[in-house]
Amino acid sequence: MCGIVGYIGGQQAAPLLLEGLTRLEHRGYDSAGLAVLGPSGVRVAKQAGRVRDLGDGLPKRFTGKIGIGHTRWATHGPATDANAHPHTDESGRVAVVHNGIIDNAAALRLELADAGVELVSDTDTEVLAHLVARSTADTLEARTAEALARVEGTYGIAVAHADFPDRIVVARNGSPLIIGVGKNEMHVASDLAALVRYTTTVAHLADGEMATVTADGFSTYLVRTIDGAGHVGLAATDRRASEVEIDPSSYDAGEHDSFMHKEMLEQPARAEAVLRGRLDEKFGTGHLGGLNLDARELRAIKRVKILGCGSAYYVGQMGAALIEELARIPADAEAASEFRYRNPIIEPDTLYVAVSQSGETIDTLLAVQEIQRKGGFVIGLVNVVGSAIAREVDGGIYLHAGPEVAVASTKALTNMFLAFAMLAVQLGRVRDLSISDGRRLIAGLNAIPGQVAEVLGREEELAEVARELAGAENLFFVGRVRGFPVAREGAQKFKEISYRHAEAYQTSELKHGPLALISPEVPTVAIVPDDELVERNVAALHEIAARGGPLTVVTHAGVDLGDLERTARRIDVPRSERELDPILLTIPLQVLAYHAALSLGHDIDKPRNLAKSVTVE
Ligand code: AGP
Repeated sequence: MCGIVGYIGGQQAAPLLLEGLTRLEHRGYDSAGLAVLGPSGVRVAKQAGRVRDLGDGLPKRFTGKIGIGHTRWATHGPATDANAHPHTDESGRVAVVHNGIIDNAAALRLELADAGVELVSDTDTEVLAHLVARSTADTLEARTAEALARVEGTYGIAVAHADFPDRIVVARNGSPLIIGVGKNEMHVASDLAALVRYTTTVAHLADGEMATVTADGFSTYLVRTIDGAGHVGLAATDRRASEVEIDPSSYDAGEHDSFMHKEMLEQPARAEAVLRGRLDEKFGTGHLGGLNLDARELRAIKRVKILGCGSAYYVGQMGAALIEELARIPADAEAASEFRYRNPIIEPDTLYVAVSQSGETIDTLLAVQEIQRKGGFVIGLVNVVGSAIAREVDGGIYLHAGPEVAVASTKALTNMFLAFAMLAVQLGRVRDLSISDGRRLIAGLNAIPGQVAEVLGREEELAEVARELAGAENLFFVGRVRGFPVAREGAQKFKEISYRHAEAYQTSELKHGPLALISPEVPTVAIVPDDELVERNVAALHEIAARGGPLTVVTHAGVDLGDLERTARRIDVPRSERELDPILLTIPLQVLAYHAALSLGHDIDKPRNLAKSVTVE
């Protein structure tokens, strides 16, 4: 959430910072700002709205070869010009950009106000600018460290100061901060996306670490001591930059109108990537070395608890069903955002699984830490390599989905499902899942990338259905057992980018209340795989049709919808192994959401009020 960029070197900073902010805009896009440090001191331009508006309105001769920038997702205070970052002190000599949340901001604001400081924004970040300005330490590093010693919460920050015109000081605690090494110039960013065009030599700061960035290099350190008067001592660390293997074009939408479209269509290739080298056809099992668990330890697992947020939680529910079915171990998924607030019981023989595309979602990260504090063993299903969750877990499976930029997650979710499927088969095969069932599932997994491509190949036909659904203000997505998390994910995707009210329900629960809402104006998208529940599902569809509810049925060829065939629209997906059905049933729902949003003229990649990674509670 929110994006930070910084530049120091021989070029004008503003155009480079604007370009970097554009690359980070998916992380927060309600306001944006820049501060450059030039001969006349610090100059700031910031405003509510998009980065392009900021660029269009930038004052002439906004010059300076050092600068910091920010794109915001509002937490403290609405999206206004005053609340946009960078924030400055009263003299205008200090500029700060910040990601994260300062929990004790209210107390610090009162303290500063009592001391006669005039606060001009509603934000938590502004206190940092004042605290840095009020420090009397000799160096910008010590001033920043003293200010940070006063705050509780999470941050990634960058500080520029007119009295120290040869440097930017950055720090990290809970919010990512990366330094990019160029030729006689240096970059700073909260995400690789902003850097890869300039350099792939980067250093990731660790939590608690600070750095000084000058045009010719960087040095890192930790705060070692704080005396009673709040003075700090710093101790050098030896963080080095290293090469990251990344294709800069993976951060471009290319010929697609949006990243979501590009990322949906990448799914077959990315699905192959997550499966590659991890399927053992001979023994019909998964081969997940990163789990750090041998067969005996896998056997000792008595329960599996999956934690994730939003769509990752819904895929977690699909994963729990797979594990229970294939390994016969009790498994469930829970919203990570709720988990630690109910004082959960952490059991030694439970495998905890944290699922996250970004590896940064704070609720999931805090759940991991709560489990580890109580001695639990956690593995991660994470896409972003080296992210906070990936680094904290005891083992894991990288998703290899490549960078995902669209707020609406698609390819990462598909790979989460596939990773769960491999985990479930591996857990099953050290128990009672037979070698022939194992082989059957491995063959099923091998077929998935091609089958995903088959569904995506029917985009035009799905677009037509989507345009019709987009006309409704309210919709239901319904499914049962394996189909219910699919319905939840379908509704989530639809509401996220089309802003239509899409509610997911168990098909079996409709008659216990929601049927009252069914009418010709309220369409239902029903998930009806050809499984043991097909007849019951079809019977429930008749109850909807009898009340005039329009139906779109996502199903398999050969499923007989009876007289509903005349009125219902059907979307047939390829047959897989039953256990693997959920992922192929999910793919058309992504396409429906995408085309519904497109027909409504929405900004597909940047839906209102949302941001790509949720790094605040
Ligand atoms: C997905 O389309 C959503 N944008 C959202 O629910 C997301 O899945 C959730 O915030 C979790 O993100 P993560 O996978 O990065 O942890």
